[in-house]
Amino acid sequence: ISENLVDGFRRQHDYLRISVTERCNLRCMYCMPEEGVDLSPPSHLLTTAEIVYLSSLFVSEGVTKIRLTGGEPTVRKDIVPLVQAIGKLRQNGLRELCLTTNGISLLRKLDPMVEAGLTGINLSLDTLDPFQFQIMTRKSSQGLEAVRKSINRILEMNRMGAGVKLKINCVVMRGLNEREILPFVEMGRENPIEVRFIEYMPFDGNKWKQNRMVSYQEMLTMIRTKYPEISKTTGLKNDTSKNYQIPGFAGQVGFITSMTHNFCGSCNRLRVTADGNLKVCLFGSAEVSLRDLLRMQNDGQPIDDERMKDILLSDDFTDIESRSATNRDLLKLIGLAVKRKKA
Ligand code: GTP
Ligand code: 5AD
Ligand code: SF4
Repeated sequence: ISENLVDGFRRQHDYLRISVTERCNLRCMYCMPEEGVDLSPPSHLLTTAEIVYLSSLFVSEGVTKIRLTGGEPTVRKDIVPLVQAIGKLRQNGLRELCLTTNGISLLRKLDPMVEAGLTGINLSLDTLDPFQFQIMTRKSSQGLEAVRKSINRILEMNRMGAGVKLKINCVVMRGLNEREILPFVEMGRENPIEVRFIEYMPFDGNKWKQNRMVSYQEMLTMIRTKYPEISKTTGLKNDTSKNYQIPGFAGQVGFITSMTHNFCGSCNRLRVTADGNLKVCLFGSAEVSLRDLLRMQNDGQPIDDERMKDILLSDDFTDIESRSATNRDLLKLIGLAVKRKKA
């Protein structure tokens, strides 16, 4: 296996998160301002062919898990063909292909994406109450119904053997949805769902306030009062979450403790932003543009999108090898960025 994705702390980076759009159909109060965020001009965004190309390059370097994120990935028009194309990389060593979505516009796209090899869905849902949903997402409460339908369809597909790992991400905010922790835990009684409670984190412009954050310890204490038999399980090596099990429950409970117990020591993630920058840390600002280098091939001409699509969708990656000069440059750049990674 290549040393290119190993950093100075011997962490092997085998998990790539790709943001496929900056847009979102919600305005969650912990994430975006009501008016939305400034969007990059379309020409700055990676095309589908470029995303698939970069994915194949990372997979050839040892990446085994790819997660598509946003914004909201399902608002990207060609999300289904994108998943289909990346799904083909399973032949080249990709083991998991996952999506983080708010579920609002997921239903219609779900079946073809699962057929194409989607193995996991992390669904962001912070409340089960329509009124609270409207407050927290700043959009119509009807969205909640759409999310429920998506969840039910995933569970139904799984009953038929689809094997899609379903997690629910719930950001807990004091005074808003903290009273819903127990109802969320209940979702895992009958259903094989991992419900993860996330500590509210500060991001640029999200007006974070310490007193809005509910800590892991506090959440766990609250859950223990009703389920004293809850116990910790040994999680997977690079999990962001601390995992728990309640005897008799089909699902699990997890906590993402970015604020009180960071998990940087076991971080195995790389990120590519929608405009093609490689980011080695969620909180770090160091970014390098893979897009610019990618578009520099062909003697300075941008690569022909259709041509690239043909190659990538044909299952035959030999043609990519023939552009190895650019590959080598890209890999060098990626390797340098990974080596710069901080603990
Ligand atoms: P899996 O482990 O594959 O299930 O996914 P994930 O937990 O990495 O990804 P997801 O998109 O579901 O994100 C869940 C939460 O983890 C979000 O609140 C993210 O902001 C947070 N998160 C994801 N990656 C990182 C990271 O590298 N560092 C930190 N501190 N938080 C992260
Ligand atoms: N704090 C914690 N989690 C957040 N997310 C978005 N913004 C924040 C924040 N400020 C979560 C979303 C989604 C995941 C990708 O990140 O709820 O589930
Ligand atoms: Fe942000 Fe996700 Fe909410 Fe959209 S759905 S506003 S990306 S947290």
